[in-house]
Amino acid sequence: MNPIQRRIDEMNQRVAEIQRKGLYFYLQPISELDGAWVTVSGRRMLLFAGYGYLGLLGHPKITAAAQEALARYGTGTHGVRILAGTLPLHEELEQTIARFKKTEAAIVYSSGYVTNLATVSALVGRNDVVICDKFNHASIVDGCLLSRARFVRFRHNDMADLERRLQQADPDAGKLVVVDAVFSMDGDIINLPEVSRLCREYDTLLMVDEAHSVGVLGETGHGIEEHFGLKDAMDLYMGTLSKPIPSVGGYVAGSQELITYLKHVARAFVFSASLPPAQTAAAKASFEVIEEEPERVKTLQRNVELFLGGLKARGFNTLDSETPIVPIICGEDERAFQMTKLCQEEGIFVLPVVSPAVPVGLARLRANVTADHSEEDITYALDVFERAGKAVGVLK
Ligand SMILES: Cc1ncc(COP(=O)(O)O)c(C=O)c1O
Repeated sequence: MNPIQRRIDEMNQRVAEIQRKGLYFYLQPISELDGAWVTVSGRRMLLFAGYGYLGLLGHPKITAAAQEALARYGTGTHGVRILAGTLPLHEELEQTIARFKKTEAAIVYSSGYVTNLATVSALVGRNDVVICDKFNHASIVDGCLLSRARFVRFRHNDMADLERRLQQADPDAGKLVVVDAVFSMDGDIINLPEVSRLCREYDTLLMVDEAHSVGVLGETGHGIEEHFGLKDAMDLYMGTLSKPIPSVGGYVAGSQELITYLKHVARAFVFSASLPPAQTAAAKASFEVIEEEPERVKTLQRNVELFLGGLKARGFNTLDSETPIVPIICGEDERAFQMTKLCQEEGIFVLPVVSPAVPVGLARLRANVTADHSEEDITYALDVFERAGKAVGVLK
């Protein structure tokens, strides 16, 4: 049999088997979104699986900005940015991001995934080295592979290992380090002060993916530099427009020179259609709302404390999470599926993450808490997790 067909068959068998057991929870349509609540298969459930950390979806200012852009420009641009696809809105969004991130300039792409793919592959090539934390997001890994640079990984958040990798790199090669600010499966935070120091010492460019950092970390939600009290700690500030920002797209903020380079070299910018007007306007308004309504960040941070503290007090292993991404470790894949089933039966919409997305034996529920959750919602969820954890043997 053609090996491609074999791979297709194997995945179909795996999906069918999990569906047969009634333990398949992916791709369920959500027919209504209402803050922390969603309607799934006609049932209203409390959402603990979304990335809307600041509760901005449906915010009147953001929705109005999108509607105005839609009315004025229609649904698309028919163009790539570099030719006929740039609207004043795109420039305004880039200026807003640059101001928010305190950099000279910014570039916006059509998704966060594409941003990593296009940026890494535009910066490094065949004779360069790109060094990544082992737990970096898939879009960074794919960008590294696409670039054809020598791809080196250091142990997760292990600074001695990072230094070894930097020492081993060819001194004449171009060197780029890429790390997540907040790791998307574990919810822990990169040791930015040390990564930044090492990159400066070894003459290496540093790119940090702030997908789960902007709006989340720092007293006013400006991200990982604010969290650590640092300034100019990195060269490329990458982020998405799809997590706390209720839109779609991705960006890199940095020096004017860097952004000019990317706008002429990054292939997904040059050869792919620009972000639609409504999404562009929504993203710009969202950055403004984060600054205008700082209490949202405070509420999120209080909820993270309540949720994480409550899970730990009940005996759950949440790895080193300090953020709204909270892994509830279950062990084997089957146990994570069983626990999801019990939680969903009790009205908590949470989803399992299993191998190969995470190491075998570390299957988990990835529970995300947001500013939309009330204290009562969190207490109810903690009680459900505890009952389910005991029933499947995650808790004694
Ligand atoms: C760390 C990280 N980077 C990049 C992305 C990709 O962003 P987007 O979903 O906006 O394409 C994600 C999304 O899951 C992510 O978690």
